[in-house]
Amino acid sequence: MPVATTSTTVVGIYPGSFDPITNGHLDLIERGARLVDQLVVAILQNERKKPLFSVEERMEMLCEVVRPFENVVVDCFNGLLVDFASRRGARVILRGIRAVSDYEYELQMALMNRRLRPEIETVFLMAGEAFSFLSSQMVKEVIGLGGDVTGLVPPLVEARLKHRLLGETL
Ligand code: PNS
Repeated sequence: MPVATTSTTVVGIYPGSFDPITNGHLDLIERGARLVDQLVVAILQNERKKPLFSVEERMEMLCEVVRPFENVVVDCFNGLLVDFASRRGARVILRGIRAVSDYEYELQMALMNRRLRPEIETVFLMAGEAFSFLSSQMVKEVIGLGGDVTGLVPPLVEARLKHRLLGETL
């Protein structure tokens, strides 16, 4: 029996703080971009979280590191994620799960988002095992204390972090 096909474009949103982007995020972007026609990496504008980098700086770093991916774009949003997703015509929200500890928070968000807009589905990808312990917060702490984070963040992000936290020249 022939399978019906439609030509609708599937847009996915990958939201987060990205303060800054790590190689764990990048791994998810690469894998997520294969599942949708267009992936929008969306930075939450939330100054209450006291970010290390401004939204503009995070946008700049993200745009640079996603340049190799043809179907990935970067944007920022405030307000409800599902409203932003809807404005962008997205049917999918993409999130990564690193460990069991992420599950409860992610479940809560996914269920709330589904209640707000049932037509948008949250899809979870398991973090690559090499990144299952990695967070932006930890990277900032380790660099700030003089530790080596080679391979955990893109080189341009490492340089920006060392500039911001250790005063090294860019
Ligand atoms: O990388 P993070 O900081 O865990 O990302 C959290 C994010 C941005 C996905 C989440 O805070 C979010 O969606 N905020 C927007 C506000 C919102 O929609 N809240 C209701 C659903 S929980």
